[in-house]
Amino acid sequence: MQKNELCRLLNIEFPILQGGMAWVATGELAAAVSLAGGLGIIGAGQSPADLIEREINKIQNLTDKPFGVNIMLLSPYAEDIIELVLDKEVPIVTTGAGNPGKYMDNFKRKGIKVIPVVASVALARRLEKQGVDAIIAEGMESGGHVGDITTMVLVPQVAQAVKVPVIAAGGIADGRGLAAALALGAKGVQMGTRFICAEECTVHQNYKDMVLKAKDRDTVITGRTTGHPVRIIKNKLSRLIDQMEAQGTTKEEIENMGVGRLRAVVKEGDTAMGSVMAGQSSAMVETIEPAGDIVRQVMAQACEIMNNHWELNQSCCRENK
Ligand SMILES: Cc1cc2nc3c(=O)[nH]c(=O)nc-3n(C[C@H](O)[C@H](O)[C@H](O)COP(=O)(O)O)c2cc1C
Repeated sequence: MQKNELCRLLNIEFPILQGGMAWVATGELAAAVSLAGGLGIIGAGQSPADLIEREINKIQNLTDKPFGVNIMLLSPYAEDIIELVLDKEVPIVTTGAGNPGKYMDNFKRKGIKVIPVVASVALARRLEKQGVDAIIAEGMESGGHVGDITTMVLVPQVAQAVKVPVIAAGGIADGRGLAAALALGAKGVQMGTRFICAEECTVHQNYKDMVLKAKDRDTVITGRTTGHPVRIIKNKLSRLIDQMEAQGTTKEEIENMGVGRLRAVVKEGDTAMGSVMAGQSSAMVETIEPAGDIVRQVMAQACEIMNNHWELNQSCCRENK
């Protein structure tokens, strides 16, 4: 496959981004994805800048290829992380949980490409006007914080509404997903859940095992009443939050219940009371393998599907002449 518009924009070989997942997406994982020709992204989450600086140093020691940092704009350390990425000349920034508008001039001055994650057409339109370079349209199949529209429905609408390249995220775990995303008008994909089970992903083995075992209906959205719904694999924590919501427990108490829970599963392997964030595509993740193999397999499968359709397309055109 020749480089498309997104690959040229980000200076990568394949239009595959590894989502910047809080606690999960470390320098090692991001380096492995970037070395394979995709775009590895470090997840800054709610971590302080010194921890993220270590991850950036790791990737810069492992590769000269482009990489990104995901900044959660709601984090108390967001401003420090922004200073850090400006200082370290990180080539690409993705943003979650908000609008990066007021930082755009600083990013642009340093030549940093800015790619926000959106879950609605209105936000995509607004951010394009503010000068972002591409947009990640993330459907509610994804792991972690979710919106309320599916990828299948969100991506074509965002792709139609903006001129910058759109990257589809949510529920994509293989080449079928990449081929589908391209058909919907996206120029590439971002995958999170699939990369939790990459060899280079340093999360606790219990977390990987839970993703590997998950079936089609094993994830659930928790915390809808807080206004910040999160998709996780069903466990004791999700049942407890469901109960609290049914009993009308306050938003603050439910939010407090979630504090430190992702870290608990990532670092300690607490799959009962940890927030086992993962998307619906967990059911399609069956093996632990090197991140580079994941990138190459996704590309190869997508190319094969598109070639098959190309033949179909040719015969269709002949018959309809
Ligand atoms: C464990 C986990 C943590 C995540 N953390 C973040 C985050 O900090 N910021 C962000 O913008 N997206 C975050 N995401 C979303 C991913 O970057 C990505 O867009 C999403 O996982 C894609 O959907 P998928 O899980 O179906 O592949 C997270 C996802 C997971 C599974």
